[in-house]
Amino acid sequence: MLAVVPQKGEIKSNNVLERLKHDLVKEGVVTQDNLNLAELKAQKENESLQKTLVKSGYVSEEQLFTFMGKMMQIPFVNVNNYIIDPKILDLIPEKIARRYNILPLFKIEKEITVAMSDPMNIVSIDDISSVSGYKVEPVIASEESILNAINQWYGMGSSRQNFINELIEDCKEVRKLDERELKFTETAEIRLKKEAAEVPVVRLLNSYIVQAILEGASDIHLEPKKDSMNVRFRIDGYLYERLPIPAELSPAITVRIKILSCLDISKKRVPQDGRISIAIRDKHIDIRTSTLPSMFGENIVLRILDQSKGVPTLSELGFFDNDLNIFKNIISANMGMILATGPTGCGKTTTIYSAISSLTKLNKNIMTIEDPVEYEIKGAVQSQVDTKSGGSFAGSLRAILRQDPDIIYVGEMRDSETSEIAIRAALTGHLVFSTLHTNDAVGTIVRLRDMGIDSGLLASVLNCSFAQRLVRRICPKCITEYQPDENLLAYFGFSPGTKLWKGQGCESCCRTGYKGRIGVYEILVTNKEINHLISVNASENEILEAAKAHGMKTLFEDGLLKVKKGITTLEEINGVRNKSDTYAENGD
Ligand SMILES: Nc1ncnc2c1ncn2[C@@H]1O[C@H](COP(=O)(O)OP(=O)(O)O)[C@@H](O)[C@H]1O
Ligand SMILES: [Mg+2]
Ligand SMILES: [Zn+2]
Repeated sequence: MLAVVPQKGEIKSNNVLERLKHDLVKEGVVTQDNLNLAELKAQKENESLQKTLVKSGYVSEEQLFTFMGKMMQIPFVNVNNYIIDPKILDLIPEKIARRYNILPLFKIEKEITVAMSDPMNIVSIDDISSVSGYKVEPVIASEESILNAINQWYGMGSSRQNFINELIEDCKEVRKLDERELKFTETAEIRLKKEAAEVPVVRLLNSYIVQAILEGASDIHLEPKKDSMNVRFRIDGYLYERLPIPAELSPAITVRIKILSCLDISKKRVPQDGRISIAIRDKHIDIRTSTLPSMFGENIVLRILDQSKGVPTLSELGFFDNDLNIFKNIISANMGMILATGPTGCGKTTTIYSAISSLTKLNKNIMTIEDPVEYEIKGAVQSQVDTKSGGSFAGSLRAILRQDPDIIYVGEMRDSETSEIAIRAALTGHLVFSTLHTNDAVGTIVRLRDMGIDSGLLASVLNCSFAQRLVRRICPKCITEYQPDENLLAYFGFSPGTKLWKGQGCESCCRTGYKGRIGVYEILVTNKEINHLISVNASENEILEAAKAHGMKTLFEDGLLKVKKGITTLEEINGVRNKSDTYAENGD
């Protein structure tokens, strides 16, 4: 299935080991001296060179295995990320798994994918193959992680396994949806539909979904390529590769997803979007599906919206106490406008949802217009703009204003008409929240000005414009103090010798050193002077200076404070700097 894997016959254990030694030195991963020392030690203690290299601290385990994976063109995987089906475990006895330090991950047709710390070991591959009766596809993983996984999956009592089984069973509930009537014109489609309902396809898709949920992923990307369908999970904003789906199964998987999402399976050359609703135990999970025709088939992105997670409270978002008070004060106003800005995915909707949720107790009429509604807010009337049938934000906004609202959230100020109506609403006794795509807080003023909004009007309604980004939090399990490079410190304006924090990488954070994210904010609160500057069309810079004089922290400054406090790292904050140049074209 994995097209990149070299032919088994080509791997000659000794040759590969020689090449590994050669490449490790050549690429500067290990020095020749250390390699020699490790070789001697490995012989003496009768263990693998790889193990000795790691044990002696000459190279980190992850470095070594990533390197080996690249060299042998075998994917490096994190076995912690896999839910192992008990039936797969049955194929390889625990004894064998322990002997060779391997873990079967899953099987597809006549092939079983096995994580190994030593994929050069032809003997073990042959043995596993004859014991299981399947052809073995090796993937590489670290020794320690495999051992942990063996203990976890083979050794454990049935509790966790039962839980996983239940998850998978519950996921099957989804199959009921298949009974929906669909019209097929081509026989090929009928065949595909059948395939899509077959157990391996159902299980495969379910296992990815369950895995993504357990890992806390926000999106699953399925990207058809020539030889396989690449699978990537977005976790805390970053994409991580997972095992690809073999090309033979990708059409069936695609059809299955489209059926579940109520999409037209005969249309492959147009983008489509839909929704899957599943219940996993007592959790209700919504998945937003979007397809896009691409070179080798339809590219699919599944956005996971875990309704049970709910909207975070304002104090969970990442405001410093002082900023939280400022923000709470702003949203307690009776009228005016509050704008959120930043690129797609920076947390705007979440902040506004959590602001609105905190206002639901006030006996006020809260109404929203969104495209689409992402989470349910109890105590608000949420409506969706139906752009497909010719609906618009502006039209829906007009309709909402006839419904006697107190607080309004307009998903996005996409055009001048919408902005105009929203501003009028803010002027006539409503508190209006909305979002825009600009770099920073001051940028919204300029953007609205460019849309042709009257500056005087804007000055009189704008209460606050805030920009935000999300940065990854340092993993609390492996956080350590370290001494950053002097140049780096200087670059960020820290005094020499300053110690900062970072995550070393542990099992809990999948060795990334990060766990979860937190907002970084720049809150521009208007005052008399700033209002005046807005009304006289002052430059971006003038307004920025006035805002700073009025106490505004910039995004970067807020980020640096979070670095000093050990919440995040310099690298993440540097990202804040760079990412601020990118805009997304759609999304909110
Ligand atoms: N303050 C936060 N801390 C951690 N995660 C957040 C925070 N705000 C948003 N997120 C997560 O980031 C993702 C994008 O957030 P969203 O509000 O949809 O961004 P936007 O509306 O700017 O596109 C969501 O998965 C959300 O759960
Ligand atoms: Mg949004
Ligand atoms: Zn960690």
